[in-house]
Amino acid sequence: MERITPTREMAMELLREYNQNENLIKHALAVEGVMVHFAELFGEDKEKWGIIGLIHDLDYEKYPDEHCIKAREILEERGWPEDYIHAVQSHGWGICTDVEPTERMEKVLYTIDELTGLITATVLMRPSRSVMDLTVKSVKKKWKQKSFAAGVNREIIEKGAEILGMEINQVIEETIKGMQKVAEEIGLRGETEE
Ligand SMILES: [Fe+2]
Ligand SMILES: [Fe+2]
Repeated sequence: MERITPTREMAMELLREYNQNENLIKHALAVEGVMVHFAELFGEDKEKWGIIGLIHDLDYEKYPDEHCIKAREILEERGWPEDYIHAVQSHGWGICTDVEPTERMEKVLYTIDELTGLITATVLMRPSRSVMDLTVKSVKKKWKQKSFAAGVNREIIEKGAEILGMEINQVIEETIKGMQKVAEEIGLRGETEE
């Protein structure tokens, strides 16, 4: 089959086609921002890492029970390359797929997906509602409160950091930085909020 070379524009269009929920769009943009930041950090392909971040939950709104499974179907149908599809599926390793993250890009995605959720929840609790001055310490504090953002699986983040070979604090620090770069788009810039 003819395979395409995905562009950011294509990914955004596809994401919009399958998602109406603005919170899910913001989550996709947050993960994209963090993926781009980590690609920069490691001197890797920013565009590719960003696109995979943007598209990783493509099927979640419409097919929550077939998450990561439908995504393969949709992306295959559109002629997306196998390495993109593998990366998307691997973020659900042990949750909705048995596709293990093997590439560094996949390990980063696996690690930061849940973490962006914890950071967003932490920011929304702050009076400033801004990620711009958020510290690792504040996130760690919320991390330890099991009842806070209880849906965020801390063990996955820990496991991800381990396979990535990074300290958890460093992962949190870089994830905050990545989210700061797209703070406006994900509604976490505080002062611009109504
Ligand atoms: Fe997901
Ligand atoms: Fe996600």
